[in-house]
Amino acid sequence: MAEKTKIKIGSVPIFSGKRILLGVTGGIAAYKAAELARRLICAGAQVKVVMTKAATEFVTPLTFQALTGEKVATAMFGPEAEPLEHVSLGQEVDAIVVAPATANIIGKMAAGLGDDLLSTILLAATRPVLLCPAMNVAMWANPVVQENLDRLQARGLQVMEPEAGELACGAVGLGRLPEPEDIVEAAARLLSPQDFSGIRVLVTAGPTHEDCDPVRFLTNRSSGKMGFALAKVAWRRGAEVCLISGPSHLRTPYGVERVSVRSAQEMLVAVQDRFVAADALIMAAAVGDYRPVNCELKKIKRGRNEAQMQLAQNPDILGEISRLKDKQVVVGFAAETHDLEAEARRKLEQKNLDFIVANDVTRKDAGFAVDTNQVTILSRKGEPLRLPLLSKEEVAERILDRVVDLLAAQGREG
Ligand code: PMT
Repeated sequence: MAEKTKIKIGSVPIFSGKRILLGVTGGIAAYKAAELARRLICAGAQVKVVMTKAATEFVTPLTFQALTGEKVATAMFGPEAEPLEHVSLGQEVDAIVVAPATANIIGKMAAGLGDDLLSTILLAATRPVLLCPAMNVAMWANPVVQENLDRLQARGLQVMEPEAGELACGAVGLGRLPEPEDIVEAAARLLSPQDFSGIRVLVTAGPTHEDCDPVRFLTNRSSGKMGFALAKVAWRRGAEVCLISGPSHLRTPYGVERVSVRSAQEMLVAVQDRFVAADALIMAAAVGDYRPVNCELKKIKRGRNEAQMQLAQNPDILGEISRLKDKQVVVGFAAETHDLEAEARRKLEQKNLDFIVANDVTRKDAGFAVDTNQVTILSRKGEPLRLPLLSKEEVAERILDRVVDLLAAQGREG
C-alpha cells in the first residue's frame, strides 16, 4: 500500500507541517478569509497570504499579517516585492487555496493570464489548487463563469460550490463563500491520501428515538460524534460517504450525504436501501434494542402509582444486513459495560462481521458524547488491536485503515 501522510485531529493538528498559500481576491467575502486563515493556523498549517489589489480594498494586509505572523504579498514589483516570488510561492507550498475566488480570477486562470502577483503564482503553480468561488448570483449563473470553471476542473483544479443564501448585495441565491470550516475540510481532502477514492462508504451514527406517546420516547446517550468522525475522515480520504444518522444536533460533515432517521425501524430501511450499492458499512449507531409495543396517540397521563410499558424487540440491523452481504466490508461496534472482548467477539460471530470495534462505555473519556475514545479492534483472525485513548477522528483513521486493507485484499483499492 502507498505510504500514507497521516492527517490527524486532536493530539496532532491535521495540517501539521503543511504550508498553505491562501490567495485572497477582491470580493466582500474577503473578510471571511481572515477566519479561514485563523482556522488553518489552528489546524497546524503555516499560512502565506497573497492578496490582489482589489482584496486590499476590503481587508487590510495587516489583518492577515497579524493572524499568520508572515508578511503578506500583494505586488509583483516595487520595494515590498520579493524577487521570483511570483514563481516560487506556488511551487514551495503544499497546497493553494483561493478564497474568495472572484469571477475575475477564475476568468484569468481559465485564460492563462498572469497580470498580477496572484494570477502569475497560479499560472506557475505546481501544487494542488482549491478554488472557493464567491460572487453575485447573476455572475455565478453567467455561462462564461461556469465554462471557465469547467475548464479549470478539467485541468485538475478542485472547485467548491458556493452556498445559497442572502448575499451582501441583497440578492438571494447561489454565490456565498462556503463556511471556513468546510473550506478547511476540502483543503484537508486535497492533502490526504486518496486511498478511498471510488469507494462508497455507508456509516450509521447517533441514537434512535422509539416513541412512547406524542411527547416521550426511549433513547440512549449517543451523540453521533463517533459516526460523524468516521464519515468526515472517510470523505477526507476520498470516499463517497452516506451517513445515516439518528437524531443528532451535529453539523453534517462537508461533502457527506446525510440521511436522517428517527427509529431503529427507519434506520433498518435506510441501511437496506443503500447497502447493496455500498463497498463498506460501518455501524457506529447506538440502535435501540426495544420499542414500545404501542405508541399512544395521546399523552400518557399521570395518575397511577405504578405503570408498565410493554416493549417489542427491534430488528437487529446488522443481523438483517448480513443476509444481503456480498463483497461489502461490514464493521460493527460493541458498546459494553463488562466482559468487553468476550461480548464483542460474540457479536462479531453472531452478526457475521469482518471486524468489530469494542467500546468500553464505562470510561468517562470514552464512548458516549465525548471527543475521545478508547477501543479494541477484534477481527476474525489475529490478535486484538488495543488502541490507546485517541480523538474520535484518530480512532476513525485506524478503523478506516483496516477497512481499506480488507478492500485491497479483495483487489478493490481506491
Ligand atoms: O455517538 P457517540 O456519543 O460518539 O458514542 C459512540 C458510541 C458509544 C455510540 C459508539 O462508539 C458505539 O459503541 N456504537 C455502538 C453502540 C451499540 O449499539 O452497540 P451494541 O453492542 O448494542 O450493538 C452492536 C452492533 O450492532 C452495533 O454496531 C450496533 O450499531 C448494531 N445494532 C445494534 C442493535 C440493533 N438493533 N441493530 C444493530 O444493528
